Amino acid sequence: MADPKTYTATCSAPVNIAVIKYWGKRDTSLILPTNDSLSVTLDQDHLRSVTTASASAAFEAGDRLWLNGIEEQIKDSKRLLACIQECRKVRKSREEADASLAKMSDLPLHICSENNFPTAAGLASSASGFAALVATLASLYSLQPTLSTSDLSRIARQGSGSACRSLFGGFVAWQSGTSPDGSDSLAVEVAPKSHWPSLQALICVVSDAKKGTPSTAGMQQSVATSPLLQHRIKNVVPGRMVEMGKAVQAKDFDLFAEVTMNDSNNFHACALDTSPPIFYMNDTSRAIVQLIEEYNRSSIEETGKRRVAYTYDAGPNAVLYAEEKEVPTVLALVRHYFPNADFDDTFNLLGAGANASHRGAQAPAELPSGLPKTFNKDIIQVHQPGSVRRLIHTRVGDGPRTLHKAADADNVGDEKESLVGPDGLPL
Ligand code: DP6
Repeated sequence: MADPKTYTATCSAPVNIAVIKYWGKRDTSLILPTNDSLSVTLDQDHLRSVTTASASAAFEAGDRLWLNGIEEQIKDSKRLLACIQECRKVRKSREEADASLAKMSDLPLHICSENNFPTAAGLASSASGFAALVATLASLYSLQPTLSTSDLSRIARQGSGSACRSLFGGFVAWQSGTSPDGSDSLAVEVAPKSHWPSLQALICVVSDAKKGTPSTAGMQQSVATSPLLQHRIKNVVPGRMVEMGKAVQAKDFDLFAEVTMNDSNNFHACALDTSPPIFYMNDTSRAIVQLIEEYNRSSIEETGKRRVAYTYDAGPNAVLYAEEKEVPTVLALVRHYFPNADFDDTFNLLGAGANASHRGAQAPAELPSGLPKTFNKDIIQVHQPGSVRRLIHTRVGDGPRTLHKAADADNVGDEKESLVGPDGLPL
């Protein structure tokens, strides 16, 4: 008789933003990168993907998946299939080795996944999405400690390269590895979130009408055509990984900022060196670069140190990293030159009296006091209201969390966290 039970698990996973960028694959099927990369995991309290996976013999139509409430065809995605099959395979071998385990690996799965940030915000959701999927299947199937977190990252990598880094919190390196089967291409923790908790991020969501080249296609165009990318892979990234490792270990923000900005600019130079060229940054993105460079220049003149770092992925949005004590000034600077952005004031920087989400303020915010003496206020113009659409203030965060699990001997967390209802359909 078929197992009448429904087994379920729900996990959340964070977004990560690389400071040494992954750009290029040496194997597009296994998702093996051409170079190492390093990222900062952001706080799931602000940005996250949540996934529920339920397994039941009652799911007669087989495996099904819903993303943000809309059903997607699993069979159309090689990447999804790879992640699900890998997790099932490990569960199956565990069931074969331990007869007391429920025969869950053969049961159809219903999977629901949601992001708490709008896809329209232009923030990469594939990293947190695939990390949440793998963390959830690992929880449902009780794959840990048989598999380590790095083992899980190797599975998530096959969903989306950058997803492997979202399996850890804090500061994370993806070691490209050399093996053709991908067995040594995995993520490792460089330092936990607790090592440098004062590191924060201000995400500037930049308005952009046009749809850019997706990263998967863009990076392979660069691999095929950009001599600069080959130089980056061989001669630039290896030294930067060492420098960035040192910066993180020493919590040396000045070095962290220098390497982060250099690497972002080198990656975007490789995009430009691609044939045909790819432009991810727009005029607003470049104005933010000019502003931060001027702020850092004047700060170096006064104190010898940089105060902010910018980095850009495959789109026009800036992610600014700064130490907590610097954020109010950085925020005021950005709000002055880029008025009217909706601001997610997660740390209540603007005070209790202010409008909770700070939408639609008409006048540009005042320039902050205490700017370095030689800061050139005319470095850029005050931009059109809304050219930066939204500002999200967040900080370094932890790795995936199990929100609920009812499978094997575990019954943990709150059932209300589940995205799948008792009928097996999205709630
Ligand atoms: C610019 O991980 O989205 O954000 O592996 O094809 O899914 P696929 O690509 P993806 O690429 C991310 C590129 C990047 C840099 C980075 O995150 O390191």
